[in-house]
Amino acid sequence: MSKITTLSEFIIERQADFPYASGDLSRLLSDIGIASKIVNQQVNKAGLGDILGAQGSTNVQGEDQQKLDVYADETFIRAFRNGGMVCGIGSEENDKYVAFEKPLCKKGKYVVLFDPLDGSSNIDVNVSIGTIFSIFRRTSSVGDRADVNDFLQKGVKQVAAGYVIYGSSTMLVYTTGYGVNGFTLEPSIGEYCLSHPNMKIPEDGQVYSINEGHLNSMGEGVKAYVDYCKASDAKSNRPYSARYIGSLVADFHRNLIKGGIYIYPATKKAPEGKLRLLYECSPLAFIVEQAGGKASDGYRRIMEIQPSELHQRVPYFIGSTNMVEKAEAFMRKFEPVEA
Ligand code: AHG
Ligand code: MN
Ligand code: MN
Repeated sequence: MSKITTLSEFIIERQADFPYASGDLSRLLSDIGIASKIVNQQVNKAGLGDILGAQGSTNVQGEDQQKLDVYADETFIRAFRNGGMVCGIGSEENDKYVAFEKPLCKKGKYVVLFDPLDGSSNIDVNVSIGTIFSIFRRTSSVGDRADVNDFLQKGVKQVAAGYVIYGSSTMLVYTTGYGVNGFTLEPSIGEYCLSHPNMKIPEDGQVYSINEGHLNSMGEGVKAYVDYCKASDAKSNRPYSARYIGSLVADFHRNLIKGGIYIYPATKKAPEGKLRLLYECSPLAFIVEQAGGKASDGYRRIMEIQPSELHQRVPYFIGSTNMVEKAEAFMRKFEPVEA
């Protein structure tokens, strides 16, 4: 049998690469791994018991909260508060950022922004969902209460980012800026095991992922790019295939492995796009860049956008470098003025 490396072993091995590191980030990543296993247990039995369906509440963005959204949110927050490495969190399910009051937490060096359950409208139909997280070093002083500026940081400032996909198997994929590594949860031992070392996204792909049902309410650049994806051309292997799961994590994960582009552009209903910069777009942008791919809003690198609000939305183009660059060229040509 070949040697198995568990997530905990891997995190400890990597810590040795940073001789001055205190180990806090390693502990935080381990805490995320543990919290995700607790969420995974509930996701796995979502068809049983009282965990399916709507909570009967909406979040600040007016979206229906599913019971599992709330469960996952509470589970991760508990893990961060108890772990003591984090001074505060920002989450899709909470209107405002939460500054932890515990003295141990106030000494925490990091903040975490996260989407506790991504694709949660897919829970009831047994389709893959995920968790996305983004970790920053705080900008406020250690020992103080976390403040809003700790959360409104550009993607380039991330120290780590990752996602968990609760799919046909459960995987955790993360980066600390030294490549991307993927771990598969081995249920019999309850451990994440390194299964996808040093992940790289193909430079080109043959898959485009967009909610094409809303094409009529999208701009001319996106429409022209989708036409391009569908046009026959043997040399560039077109037409491409359309694949859209409706869970960003699952669509992104497939494209990361096989090559492809995911687009959630501005629409008439969502003029800024639908996806949130801080806990959906930025973390996956960090991962895709570390894997050799690209993420933009059609014009600018996602990682360089300065956020001004916790739940800020942004149009999103992410995936294989050549595909994103092609889509950007269509945007420049057909939607030259950036709103
Ligand atoms: P969330 O469940 O965290 O609110 O995110 C849903 C997002 C994302 O996962 C997905 O790609 C997108 O919404 C789908 O939106 P449409 O149904 O508008 O295509
Ligand atoms: Mn989401
Ligand atoms: Mn969500």
